[in-house]
Amino acid sequence: MTTSLKGKPAADCVRDGVKSRVDERRQKAGSVPGLAVVLVGRDPASEIYVAKKHKAAVAVGMHSFECRLDANSGTGAVLDVVSQLNRNPDVHGILVQLPLPDGVDSDAVIQHIDAAKDVDGLGRLSQGALVQNRPGLRPCTAVGIIDLLDYYEVPLEGRQAVVVGRSSLVGLPTALLLMHRNATVSVIHSKTPSPARIARTADILVVAAGRPGLVTREWIKPNAVVVDVGIHRTDSGIVGDVLADEAWGHAGAFTPVPGGVGPMTIAELLHNTWMAFQTQVVAG
Ligand code: GUN
Repeated sequence: MTTSLKGKPAADCVRDGVKSRVDERRQKAGSVPGLAVVLVGRDPASEIYVAKKHKAAVAVGMHSFECRLDANSGTGAVLDVVSQLNRNPDVHGILVQLPLPDGVDSDAVIQHIDAAKDVDGLGRLSQGALVQNRPGLRPCTAVGIIDLLDYYEVPLEGRQAVVVGRSSLVGLPTALLLMHRNATVSVIHSKTPSPARIARTADILVVAAGRPGLVTREWIKPNAVVVDVGIHRTDSGIVGDVLADEAWGHAGAFTPVPGGVGPMTIAELLHNTWMAFQTQVVAG
């Protein structure tokens, strides 16, 4: 039997916590957090994600700002928008939807975001705080994975964890968060020889490779907890990085795609926006 680690109840738990704090703040002080999402171009998947983020922010009573730029905007134009948002006192969190179009310097844009408003946790200060296990804003999907595992009471300390993928958005921060929770962590990437052999050592296998169906049954230790971060639209529907048919009945627990990690990412974005607001306004 494989347990389905559905994201919705865990995400609702995070979101409800944020909503009640926002409600309380509005009643006491009349102010609420503001989240700005910057979208450059018209990538269809990004359009869907941005719409979801807007809806989620409004649903918990936050202000939501959408900044849209043309696909052929240069780096300078995107930096100007970020500068304006950095200065705007009604904006407490800034997220620039990735990927940015070719020709825009993504690193320059991300590093330009005021560290206090860096709700994606991708800036150098946020990353440094993560490495050093100090308070700071963490990448939403990575912290969502840990909260999902905690919600389902999956023990982390002393367990073997393997993370497939080393992106700054997911793989790398997830590996660090697992390490800070005293898991023993290995990271597999595109240059790793015999990846299945290493993956099979995992009690907890987190797959964030961005490759549909990469992980087959031979990568999975029987009864392992498998977290599939991938989400891909294919002719046969939405699939993850793990071949779902091969995980069900073999893994001990598995996150469905869609409906597993996805809902956590947005809930954590709201949580980060609340944290950013608190640092800038409530505590400041
Ligand atoms: N594109 C896909 N996922 C993400 C995310 O978590 N943050 C940003 N900024 N862009 C993304």
